[in-house]
Amino acid sequence: MAKDQNSYFSLRCCCLTLVILSSLSTILILSWSNFFVPCYSNVQTPLQNQNQPFNLLTFPSAWNMLHFPSQSPPYLLKIALFVKKWPDGHHAGGLERHALTLHLALAKRGHELHIFTPFFFNLTSSMKNLYFHFSKPTSGGYLDQAIVWKQFQVENSSKRPFDVAHTESVGLMHTRSRNLTNLAVSWHGIAYESIHSDIIQELLRDPKTARPPILTQRILKVVEEVKFFPRYAHHVATSDHVGDILKRIYMIPEERVHVILNGVDEEIFKPEASSFRSKNGIDRDYKTLILGMAGRLVKDKGHPLIFEALRQIFNESSTFKDSVVVLVAGDGPWGDRYKELGPNLRVLGPLDQAQLAKFYNDIDIFVNPTLRAQGLDHTLLEAMLVGKPLMATKVASITGSVIVSKDFGYTFSPTVEALKKALYEVWNDGRVVLEKKGEMARRRALQLFTATKMTAAYERLFFCIAENGKVVNDYCTYNPNLV
Ligand SMILES: *[C@@H]1O[C@H](CO)[C@@H](O)[C@H](O)[C@H]1NC(C)=O
Ligand SMILES: *[C@@H]1O[C@H](CO)[C@@H](O)[C@H](O)[C@H]1NC(C)=O
Ligand SMILES: *[C@@H]1O[C@H](CO)[C@@H](O)[C@H](O)[C@H]1NC(C)=O
Ligand SMILES: *[C@@H]1O[C@H](CO)[C@@H](O)[C@H](O)[C@H]1NC(C)=O
Repeated sequence: MAKDQNSYFSLRCCCLTLVILSSLSTILILSWSNFFVPCYSNVQTPLQNQNQPFNLLTFPSAWNMLHFPSQSPPYLLKIALFVKKWPDGHHAGGLERHALTLHLALAKRGHELHIFTPFFFNLTSSMKNLYFHFSKPTSGGYLDQAIVWKQFQVENSSKRPFDVAHTESVGLMHTRSRNLTNLAVSWHGIAYESIHSDIIQELLRDPKTARPPILTQRILKVVEEVKFFPRYAHHVATSDHVGDILKRIYMIPEERVHVILNGVDEEIFKPEASSFRSKNGIDRDYKTLILGMAGRLVKDKGHPLIFEALRQIFNESSTFKDSVVVLVAGDGPWGDRYKELGPNLRVLGPLDQAQLAKFYNDIDIFVNPTLRAQGLDHTLLEAMLVGKPLMATKVASITGSVIVSKDFGYTFSPTVEALKKALYEVWNDGRVVLEKKGEMARRRALQLFTATKMTAAYERLFFCIAENGKVVNDYCTYNPNLV
C-alpha cells in the first residue's frame, strides 16, 4: 500500500515537479517524461502499483475512480437508513436528493432497505423491499432519537439483524451511533467548510447591518464536531476536500474516511435535442450565447452577486447584452429582481427533473455563483452529464472535485469584479470552445458522477463494513486484475 501511495503522490505533484526541475536547466532532461503525464488534480486516477490488490478502506482518493462490477450483488444486504427528511419527489435539497437517489438504486438492486424518517402522509412505497419506519420529529426538526433507536432495535431483533446502517449527516446522532461498527455516515456540509462561506458573507455584508454572531461561534462548532465525529465508525466524504478535512483537521483515522462523490441519474441527465428553447421564444442565431442558472434564487446561492455583475456588463457592453440570454430555473426572492435586467433574463420558475434535463440541454454553459461552500452541488454534476461546461465559485469542493481544470469550465472568486471577468472570458471564448469543454465535462461526469457509480461504491463499502469483523473479507480488497 505504501508503494501505491507513493506513485499516487508523485502523479499528483507532477506539475510542481516540472516547474522546479525546469528552473534547473542542467537536469531539465530528467524531467522530460513528466510532460507526458496528464495532470489535473487530486482526483486523477492514481497509478496502482502494478495491479497489486489493495485495501479499499485506506484508498486515499474518490472510490468513483475505481471500477466495480455491475453484476448482481453476491447476497442481499439488510440496510438501515436514518434521514431527517425523505423527499417528496422533485423538491429535494442536496442531502435528501442524495438519500433518495442512492437508496432507491440500492433497493432496485434487491437489498432490503429500512428507512427511519419523519412521517410524511403522501409517502407510499411501490417496492416490496423498501420499508418505512415513521416517527414524529423533534421541534428542532431532527429525528426523535429515543423513538428511532427503539424502532431500529425492534427491527434488528426481528427475523434478521441489520447488516449495515447508514445515516445521512446526523440523522442518527452520535449518542446512539457509538457502538455500531457497521455504520457509515455521509456528510453533506461540515462546520469547517462553512468557515469559507462565513468569510465570503462577511466581506459582502452591508456595513449598516449587524455582524451575525455565527462568525465568532463557528470555530467552536468545528471543535464540537471534532469531538463527536469519532463516534461514527465510518465516514463518507462527498468531496475530496471534505475527505482531507476529516482526516487532517478532524483527525479521524484514514481507514475510517472514504471519499464517494455524489452521483446523479444518468438516465435523466443526458444530451438530447430539445424543443424547450423554441417554446421559450429564444430566437437563437449563431451569435447568441445562453447562460443557465438553476436552484433556489436566494442570497446564499450568490444571486445578488451575479445580478450586479450582469447589470454592470449590460450597461458596459451593448454587444454583450445583444448576444447573451440568461435562463434561470427555480424560484425565490431573486426571481422578481431579475426582471429588472430586462428581456435578456428569463426566469422559468421551478422545473421538475425531466424539464430540468431539457433546460440543461438548451444552455451553452451552466453558471453557479453559490456562496455556500458545503457539500457537493448536484446541479453542477447534472449539467456536466448533459455535456455542458461550468462556471462556478472557487470553493474547495468545486475546485477540488468538479471543475478541476479549465478543460471543464471556469471558476471565479465571489466578487462582482471576478465574476464580470469570468463572464467576459466565457463570452470571448464563444460557443465552439464551450462545446469542447462540454464534451470533456460529459466524459468526466460519465466516469465519476453517475448514480450508478455512486451506488456501486456505496454498495461495496456496505459489504466491506458489514463483514468488517471477519478474518477474511474480500469485499474490502480491491483487485485491479479482476475488473
Ligand atoms: C400529495 O399528493 C397529492 C396528489 O398527488 C398532491 O396534490 C399534494 O400536493 C401532495 N401533498 C404534498 C404535501 O406534497
Ligand atoms: C442487532 O442484532 C444483532 C444480532 O442479534 C446483535 O448482535 C446486535 O448487537 C444488534 N444491534 C443493536 C444495535 O442492537
Ligand atoms: C454502548 O455500549 C456501552 C458499553 O457497553 C453502553 O454502556 C452504552 O449504553 C451503549 N450505548 C448505546 C447507545 O447503546
Ligand atoms: C453605465 O455606464 C456609464 C458609463 O459607461 C456610467 O456613467 C453609468 O453610471 C453606468 N450606469 C449604471 C447604472 O451602472
